[in-house]
Amino acid sequence: MGKIRIGLFGFGVVGQGIYEVLRRTKNVDAEIVKICVRSLDKPRPGEIDRRFFTDSADEILLDPAIDLIVEVIDDAEASYRIVKAALERKIPVVSGNKAMLANHLQELIEMQKRNGVALLYDASSCGSIPVIRNLEEYYDNDLLLEVKGILNGSSNYILSRVFDHQCPYAEALAQAQALGFAESDPSFDIEGYDSLFKLVIITVHALGVYVHPRDIFTYGISTIHDSDIRYAREKRVKIKLVAQVVKVAGDRFTMFVMPEFVSPKKYIYSVDDEYNGVVIRGECYDRQFMFGKGAGSLPTASSILSDIMARQHDYRYEYKKMNYADRPAYTTDILLRIYARYTDTPVPAILPFEKIHEQYFSSECNYLIGDVKLSALIEHRAELNGKDLFLANIPLFFIDRD
Ligand code: HSE
Repeated sequence: MGKIRIGLFGFGVVGQGIYEVLRRTKNVDAEIVKICVRSLDKPRPGEIDRRFFTDSADEILLDPAIDLIVEVIDDAEASYRIVKAALERKIPVVSGNKAMLANHLQELIEMQKRNGVALLYDASSCGSIPVIRNLEEYYDNDLLLEVKGILNGSSNYILSRVFDHQCPYAEALAQAQALGFAESDPSFDIEGYDSLFKLVIITVHALGVYVHPRDIFTYGISTIHDSDIRYAREKRVKIKLVAQVVKVAGDRFTMFVMPEFVSPKKYIYSVDDEYNGVVIRGECYDRQFMFGKGAGSLPTASSILSDIMARQHDYRYEYKKMNYADRPAYTTDILLRIYARYTDTPVPAILPFEKIHEQYFSSECNYLIGDVKLSALIEHRAELNGKDLFLANIPLFFIDRD
C-alpha cells in the first residue's frame, strides 16, 4: 500500500496527540490531509496551516483521495454517524470512541462484513495497552477464562490520590480533568460507564459475544466515603474500580463493573494513577498481566498510530470467536459477595441477601458483608444508584490467584 492519506475527525486531546506522534515517527507512510472540527473559530496550535481544518464532514467523507478516516471526537452520536457513513462508502476507519462502539458494535461488525471494509479500535480500550488485537489474534482459542482489570484511568487516578495521598475526592477529580484523562462528562468515568463500554468491546474479542451495556451491572466510585477508605485500610486492601468478564460453570460467563477490595498480592493492587492493568487468565497458561497508560493524549495516540500502521498491511479484525460453535452464554445468575455501607437507605431490606457474613451498626453508618445474586443487583439498581451508600465486590472467582 502507498502513502495513507488520513482524514481526521476531532482535534482535542487525542487528535492533537495523533498529529504529534505522526510528526515524531519516521517510518509511517501516512499523512493527515484534512481535519474536521466542530468550530473553526477555536484557536489551534500555531504551526498547523488553517487550510487543513474544515467543519464539514463531507469534505472528508466525499474526498476520493482520503483512504483512511481516523475518528476521535467526543460526541458518540456524531461519531456513530461518521463511522456508518464511512463504512457505507467502504472507507476504513480507526476509532477511539468506546461509547459509540459499545452501543453499536453488533451493527458495525455486520457493516464491516457486508462492505468488506475495516474498522479498527484498539485505542478505545485501555489507551496504549494493546488489548484488543492481542485478544483477537494471540488468544484465538477456547482457553481464555477471565479478563479483569482497571480500564479507566481517571477513576484510578482519583482513587490513588484519595487512598495513597490523602487528597480530597473533589480535588482529585479536578486534577484528573485538568490532566486531560477525564471524559468531558466525568460521570462516565466515576460512575463506571467508561469501564463498562471498554468491557463490552473487550468481551467481543475475548469470548466472541456481544452484550449490550444496558444489560450489565455497573456501579462506580462517586459515593465512596472516608469510612469506606478507613475500612479498606483496616483490612489492608485497596479499593479499585474493576471491570471483569469471567467464565463460570456450565458454559456460561458473567460480567460486571464494580469497586472491588484488592489485596496486595494481586497484580492490580499496584496499578496506580492513570495507569490501567489487565489480567488475562486461561487454562494451561494461568495468568498474564498487561500494564500501561490507559488515558492521555500521547498514550492513546500511540494506539491509534498502531492501528494506522496495521492498515498499511491491510489488517482487519475477523471476529473469529463469533464463529465458534460453542460460545458461552451470558448469565447474571451468580452469587457475589459484597460490602455495603449505608446510612438511611435500608440496603438489607432492598437486596435479597442469601447470607450475611458480617454486620455492623453505629450512629454514623452501618455496613454489612453478604452474598447476593448479580441478577438482584441489576433488578434493584435504580434503588441503589446515587443513594447514601457504597457497594464493593469482594472477589470470589479465582480468589487466591489473581
Ligand atoms: N476517560 C478515560 C479514562 C479516557 O480515564 O480512562 C481513556 O479512555
